[in-house]
Amino acid sequence: MVNVSEMKVAIVYYSKTGNTRRVAERLKSDLSELNVIVDCFEIRGQREYSNKMLHLNPRLIYEVIFKDEVEICGYEEFNPNKYNLILIGSPIWYNRVAPAIKTFIKKYAGKIGAPIACFTTSKLNINYSDEFRKQLEGLGYKVMVNKTVVIGSEKLAIKELVEELKTILR
Ligand SMILES: Cc1cc2nc3c(=O)[nH]c(=O)nc-3n(C[C@H](O)[C@H](O)[C@H](O)COP(=O)(O)O)c2cc1C
Repeated sequence: MVNVSEMKVAIVYYSKTGNTRRVAERLKSDLSELNVIVDCFEIRGQREYSNKMLHLNPRLIYEVIFKDEVEICGYEEFNPNKYNLILIGSPIWYNRVAPAIKTFIKKYAGKIGAPIACFTTSKLNINYSDEFRKQLEGLGYKVMVNKTVVIGSEKLAIKELVEELKTILR
């Protein structure tokens, strides 16, 4: 087994309906089996959207398409200097990352020296994480890996991502 013990990884994610949280927890469990220390940070909006008819929520649509930043919480304990690698995960809403993640990555632009791995969760099999990667790189992040996790076939994507992370952590 690859010796990646004493490596510290942060998984920063947003999740509204639980898919991205499930993927993050699975990643945490798989990486912990390799003796990697993993801390998870679930970013939330200060004003979360109602669960009812999420697709038709006007504020959600407005914030996804037009808003640069929203009020967020959940990152207060996050200290990027503590980690060898930082994973950032987001659901895809209308072909974009969630507003809370857009806000987080803007907030930390230029403040994270560690390599980044990013992932998206989505319904459609479209390579959304390529776009997320470009967005992160545009903000100056050093992105090593990106992975699109399509809900319904996440098992293989998570496995592939863990394999790729192992090569970075080695
Ligand atoms: C408002 C809304 C918009 C969505 N837009 C897309 C989309 O453009 N493409 C896609 O593949 N999936 C889309 N989805 C599906 C989500 O990306 C998918 O269910 C994701 O895993 C949700 O993550 P979460 O459960 O962590 O919130 C959308 C879901 C919602 C609620």
